[in-house]
Amino acid sequence: MKDPSLRRSVTLFRGFLREPSDPRSFYELLARDAANQVERYAPLAGRVVVDVGGGGGHFTAEFRRRGARAFLFEPDPAELAASPRPPEGAVVADGYLLPLADGTADVCFCSNVLEHVDDPVTFLSELVRVTRPGGLVYVAFTNWYSPWGGHEWAPWHYLGAERARRRYERRTGRPAKHVLGENLFPVHVGTTLRQVRARDDVTVLSARARYWPFAPGLVTRVPLLREFATWNLLLILRRCP
Ligand SMILES: C[S@@+](CC[C@H](N)C(=O)[O-])C[C@H]1O[C@@H](n2cnc3c(N)ncnc32)[C@H](O)[C@@H]1O
Repeated sequence: MKDPSLRRSVTLFRGFLREPSDPRSFYELLARDAANQVERYAPLAGRVVVDVGGGGGHFTAEFRRRGARAFLFEPDPAELAASPRPPEGAVVADGYLLPLADGTADVCFCSNVLEHVDDPVTFLSELVRVTRPGGLVYVAFTNWYSPWGGHEWAPWHYLGAERARRRYERRTGRPAKHVLGENLFPVHVGTTLRQVRARDDVTVLSARARYWPFAPGLVTRVPLLREFATWNLLLILRRCP
């Protein structure tokens, strides 16, 4: 599917709505979409790809299908256990401290993890460290003021995280998966862009709204609006030689 296009965005959004009942189809769709995005910048076949915080491994599986030597690093054994087919050789490891030598990866891939770590700047440095000079870092995250910023308690996070979490628990009778300050942190588009642009070890090749159907780069340039409208910020970085 053409990216960006209305058809692609609608297909992704429909898959997202069906995620609770059919997670596998949604994550396979998302993985194909993300692999297409990576391949715009670098071929995957024969490349070493490191998938950090890759959950059950749908992305790793897709990268392998395209001929990459892909490796999953996931700190939560429960994520791997919940996967119908965790990729062979998956490593239980924290993305802050990857068990990899400097410059190992041709592509370091990290989808929807940055908002789950308390120090995104240090976390990003580790992604850059394991990427070879000239290699790519793909990092995407849901920013806090996105309509989905509060995750399962969205969009009520706009009225306060604690209130939104309590409301979720009252309505569903289930404990919320995410607690602000424990496993979900407010990460913002403007701040993150300033931080990555100030780095001297990467060049920003693309900063865009990951799922937008048109002008995905434009929205990330408009202060304030970008915090609400970006939904999910995708950064493609090249590690400086
Ligand atoms: C929302 S899930 C995203 C999973 C997958 N990457 C995706 O895009 O569907 C967040 C993932 O981040 C992982 N995570 C949280 N803290 C992490 C850390 N310090 N290092 C690496 N992964 C982490 C979680 O275990 C979980 O698998």
